[in-house]
Amino acid sequence: VVVDPEAELVAAIDQGTTSSRVLIFNKSGQPVASHQMEFTQIYPNSGWHEHDPLELVSSVTTCLEGAVKDLTSKGYSAKNIKAVGITNQRETTVVWDSKTGQPLYNAIVWTDTRAAALVRELKARPGADALQAKCGLPLSTYPSCSKLLWMLQHVPRVKAAYDNGTLAFGTVDSWLVYKLNGGPERNVHVSDPTNASRTMFMNLNTLDYDDSLISFFQLDRSKINLPKVVKSSDPTVYGSLAEGALAGVPITGCLGDQSAALVGQKGFEPGLAKNTYGTGCFLLYNVGEKPVISTHGLLATVAYDFAGRKPVYALEGSIAVAGSGVKFLMNNLGFAESSAAVGELAETVDDNGGVVFVTAFSGLFAPYWIDDVRGTILGVTQYTQKGHIARATLEATCYQTKAILDAMEKDSGKALQALAVDGGMSNSDLCMQTQSDLIGIPVVRPKMRETTALGAAIAAGLAVGVWNDIEELKLINTEGATSFEPKIAKDAGKKMFERWEKAVYTCAGFV
Ligand code: G3P
Repeated sequence: VVVDPEAELVAAIDQGTTSSRVLIFNKSGQPVASHQMEFTQIYPNSGWHEHDPLELVSSVTTCLEGAVKDLTSKGYSAKNIKAVGITNQRETTVVWDSKTGQPLYNAIVWTDTRAAALVRELKARPGADALQAKCGLPLSTYPSCSKLLWMLQHVPRVKAAYDNGTLAFGTVDSWLVYKLNGGPERNVHVSDPTNASRTMFMNLNTLDYDDSLISFFQLDRSKINLPKVVKSSDPTVYGSLAEGALAGVPITGCLGDQSAALVGQKGFEPGLAKNTYGTGCFLLYNVGEKPVISTHGLLATVAYDFAGRKPVYALEGSIAVAGSGVKFLMNNLGFAESSAAVGELAETVDDNGGVVFVTAFSGLFAPYWIDDVRGTILGVTQYTQKGHIARATLEATCYQTKAILDAMEKDSGKALQALAVDGGMSNSDLCMQTQSDLIGIPVVRPKMRETTALGAAIAAGLAVGVWNDIEELKLINTEGATSFEPKIAKDAGKKMFERWEKAVYTCAGFV
């Protein structure tokens, strides 16, 4: 490969639920260097899930150094990198001391359900029904607000910092930007609307915090120290890396990971949708320049908000468990050594053998929103093999995607024509074929599937002129896509889906 010494590259930090990665992209949207690492998952109690905020930061800086090393080994220079973009697991909540920059508690991860009782109380408060129309989200354990409230009620250090005005709150984007800028000295405390919209404190129309939302949660805005909401792609508001091989390189893009995947799949037009099978699975459908509030169990969210353009919104269907179901089979049940091997196990059988696995480890998200349902395997007999359970695990995400698309059709009045996919589980042909069979439309998988990181690179690169407009971006990463067309009879898919829904309602309430 001949290396262009003038190449303009963009680094993307992807801080996800189970791993951190840095990918460095060229102008054609292809990664030229990367580094990835997993970090500690902390499960202190059933339903609890935490991350160490300092480990999140150190995993990112290690990946930055590793990716730059990889880059230089290929003949490029760190100077080729014009900007850094950040994309991140959303809703996960970090609180820190604004004076010292030190975390006050572990980050509570988006999957964590410890606030379930608190959420039940919130649902009973006057005004609860009016929240979703403003912020796009239903009350559940998922958004950041319930995690912050739980900390204020149960962690004395957090409450003390709130009382004396030294509490700083942020989602992971905000925490990383703050720390990568060096912490309290520069005090860059910002968040982009795709992340801020996941707190339940932000109004979707104004793209700023809404006092009526904050007062519903009985919080004093002056004491929370919320990050300032800024554009997702902007050359000046995110500061720059304070240290390391890329010291001085500006951070110019920031998107929650699901929004980043929509951008990376180039879902720039209303009516386009993508589904990312990561730790969880998230379907985002571009609805254009005005939010659409769902009446069928979906979320309204910000797709992206680039400087100099109008914000773009999405309808979202969130599934809590996808790759984490596969990991559960590997780590907890010892089914296989790798995700790919779980996929192969699923291929050893012709069908699910009657098994349905409701993978409700964090309750069920969209479109059901049942907080207290627990993971349940139904239909097991002496005939059942590991392969059937592996297959049922993959199918669980496909069924929920089908339920989400049905809801989306009702909300938008339009049927989707094709679904763009990415993320770990999309590597399984069997899983993608099943998906297409169940939803009855083509499922299109790009060859280069690092679309989440690409989305962050696009946001950053647009701000500094690596790319200049959306039309130019539509031409990148177009080659080599695979399309899965529906193969089974509609009736067969319908029957499978009916069994799934029956299973969901059978195990709801089993606590
Ligand atoms: O809302 C949670 C989501 O952002 C996490 O994404 O890729 O870790 O499943 P992922």
